[in-house]
Amino acid sequence: MTTAVVAMGLGNEIGYDNQLIWHLPRDLKHFKNITEGHPIIMGRKTYESIGKPLPNRTNIVVSRRTDWFQEGILIVGSVKEALKFAKKIDEEVFILGGAELFKSTMEIIDKLEVTVIDAHFEAHTFFPEIDEKIWKKTHEEFIERDEKNAYNMYFQTYERR
Ligand SMILES: NC(=O)c1ccc[n+]([C@@H]2O[C@H](COP(=O)([O-])OP(=O)(O)OC[C@H]3O[C@@H](n4cnc5c(N)ncnc54)[C@H](OP(=O)(O)O)[C@@H]3O)[C@@H](O)[C@H]2O)c1
Repeated sequence: MTTAVVAMGLGNEIGYDNQLIWHLPRDLKHFKNITEGHPIIMGRKTYESIGKPLPNRTNIVVSRRTDWFQEGILIVGSVKEALKFAKKIDEEVFILGGAELFKSTMEIIDKLEVTVIDAHFEAHTFFPEIDEKIWKKTHEEFIERDEKNAYNMYFQTYERR
């Protein structure tokens, strides 16, 4: 199973200035619970914005450039290659984004784990439209804002119809 994990605003906003737009510890915990122990695939810009490998997960970074190296990550030149390595490690693989990588992987993704943040944001990058003709929402959990998390959120799961 190949699953995309994304946190987005009501207008599909995901990033600003190569960073996340919000700081939501409750969502980070959710993200960790979902992805820990499994290979994760991300675009080069997302990796740079995180700045280091995420622990307890094989970090696979997709880049067309072949002239760089960084300890603790596997750099590959295509999505196909990323999936080939990831599937050797584990059947459950997670696509972390960003926008460009999501766009080029939507067609091969089986499942979406989406956090919808209940607000609109200014953004530079967006998640592709989730077409209800293709995707069916199979789970939804409401998370109320609190002192550490400034927005209400919905944890949603979508599967292909
Ligand atoms: N809210 C969320 O859930 C979430 C999740 C992830 C990221 N983000 C945000 O999204 C933004 C980054 O997204 P982005 O769209 O600018 O960048 P990105 O998708 O993270 O990375 C783009 C880079 O990845 C490589 N790449 C992407 N697709 C490829 C493919 N099919 N084959 C080979 N290489 C490929 C290229 O690297 P080279 O240029 O090295 O060739 C490309 O320049 C940041 O603001 C980040 O914080 C948000």
